[in-house]
Amino acid sequence: MERAGYAQVIPPILEDIGVFHRVGEATDVVTKEMYDFVDKGDRHVALRPEHTASICRAYVQHRPATPFKVWYAGPNFRYEKPQRGRYRQFDQVGIEVLGVDDPDLDVEVIALGWEFLSSLGLKQVSLLINSLGESSERTDFISALNSYLESRRGALSQESISTLERNPLRVLDSKREQDQEVILGAPKIVDFLGNDSRRHFERVQAGLDVIRIPYTVEHRLVRGLDYYRQTTFEFSGGTLESAQNALGGGGRYDSLVEDLGGPATPGIGFAIGVDRTLLACDDESVFPIDKRVPEYFVIDTTGGSEALVVTTELRGSGFSVDRSFSGRSMKSQMKAADRSGAPYAIIIGSDEVVNEIVLLKSLRTDEPQEVVQRSALITRLREKKK
Ligand code: HAM
Repeated sequence: MERAGYAQVIPPILEDIGVFHRVGEATDVVTKEMYDFVDKGDRHVALRPEHTASICRAYVQHRPATPFKVWYAGPNFRYEKPQRGRYRQFDQVGIEVLGVDDPDLDVEVIALGWEFLSSLGLKQVSLLINSLGESSERTDFISALNSYLESRRGALSQESISTLERNPLRVLDSKREQDQEVILGAPKIVDFLGNDSRRHFERVQAGLDVIRIPYTVEHRLVRGLDYYRQTTFEFSGGTLESAQNALGGGGRYDSLVEDLGGPATPGIGFAIGVDRTLLACDDESVFPIDKRVPEYFVIDTTGGSEALVVTTELRGSGFSVDRSFSGRSMKSQMKAADRSGAPYAIIIGSDEVVNEIVLLKSLRTDEPQEVVQRSALITRLREKKK
């Protein structure tokens, strides 16, 4: 992201609740899932459910030059029903750009998300894209969709009937088996796009073609937040369960900056869910997390203060070193050394202290144990590293 000119911002975890109301009064994220409370100064605040609204609030407050290109990473909070891939605290890493309406930027943003996931080694990721058009086009679409869904009400699940009353667009997002036939026959937003919106969407697709990023146009992709317009997209993980398979998503948003008191400013961005991405990495056996193995394990049978000095000295010289605590027996310290995975133990007993030496013992091979002068230990370990 930084190679593409994005600088890091660290927005606060807590904001005035009004900042998040702009995310969408009709969305679950705002109506049901916010962790909000009144603080000691009588302010109604909330833990952020996402970063985009905070970035726009910061933009309105500080008015940086445009294009304002930023990246962020941090925790978010939503009161959801916890299950694999859906948590009440989860991390996102994302980007936002304010001040540019060019479809080439949509392609740049989507490509950065795609590259992020592919550079982890993930193969089973698909990119879904859609356009939600301008708000007038969306209004026409929503009213056609509403009439259609009302006419098929009897065939919808109970959950979708109640979603329909609040936000007909979100019915398209239903993953319930019972709703699928109705959803398949629903009107498509693409048929409601005007010339400008259509051209914008075609330019985005042409750009993705040029840089060879594969995608599918998914007419049902509506996203869970209300602020979107024009291009929307999602990275879907092939190994995850369908209700939690979005590894990340984003799109253009129009009125967010204005709603927060700023000038009309186009915006676009995405957020990738770190927790789900790690689940996908596990499922695809990529990006394994290295077990941290120390280079040396210090065994001190004289009480522990020799180990304190030696570990401090060696760590200060750049070696990774671990030790036991609580004056354990030689046998128990040898076991701990073995478990640590360290290739060598540095052994210090009372004879070694008197003679100002240490023993360097390989824990993995049968190379002979070495006697090293205490004062020459760091030099000897540096030689071994070469
Ligand atoms: P979102 O689709 O709500 O979009 O969240 C983005 C990603 O965060 C999801 O695709 C998912 O991976 C992860 N995520 C969301 N909720 C949870 C949860 N409860 N547990 C685990 N992971 C979760 C946004 O948040 C927008 N702010 C994205 C954006 C940026 N749009 C424009 N700019």
